[in-house]
Amino acid sequence: MKRIVILISGRGSNMQAVVQANIAQAEVVAVISNRADAAGLQWAAQRGLATEAICHQDYAGREAFDAALMARIDAYQPDLVLLAGFMRILTPEFCEHYAGRLINIHPSLLPAFPGLHTHQRALDSGCRVAGCTIHFVTAQLDCGPIIAQGVVPVVNGDTADALAQRVLCVEHELLPQVVADFVAGNLVVEGNRVNNLSIVDEDVSVCLKN
Ligand code: GRF
Repeated sequence: MKRIVILISGRGSNMQAVVQANIAQAEVVAVISNRADAAGLQWAAQRGLATEAICHQDYAGREAFDAALMARIDAYQPDLVLLAGFMRILTPEFCEHYAGRLINIHPSLLPAFPGLHTHQRALDSGCRVAGCTIHFVTAQLDCGPIIAQGVVPVVNGDTADALAQRVLCVEHELLPQVVADFVAGNLVVEGNRVNNLSIVDEDVSVCLKN
């Protein structure tokens, strides 16, 4: 069994998608949030999962918070730490500590639009497609080897909310698949490229939606 700790900051719909996927040989051992009022925490607790809130405001700075967070995460001895809507910039120490077992989902087609307000920025740029990226985390924000990307069209009259909703559907489909591939040992990082051993012939680690 591979042990998974999921970090969230709010709704936690991606966390829910992973939990509900009942991935073989995977166990979600804890859901941790930097906000006590994160709706996802309640959802997880109702399903009998271990939950914790570690509030970043209670700490003097980023280093102190990340150190406390690491201590709590490590208590669960995770094989994988999943950032699923965890809205905090992490210290290089944190990223280094979990190197190779830290995965993030970001709501844009990286390297376009790292950071916040990705959907509005995609609209403002006139993009014809948008999407999400799931990647291994390195110290640089929203960088790191890309594991999978999901693509959706941008349509006339789109709003940031409508686009976010369309992208979110793909996120929910793709994230459990990536976790399953990680757990199965299918993800091999070669430089900046992730080789997914479950994909033969063509590289189809792109999920197209309309
Ligand atoms: C998702 O769009 C995710 O890509 C981004 O934050 C959002 C979190 O949504 N990092 P949820 O909390 O999983 O519902």
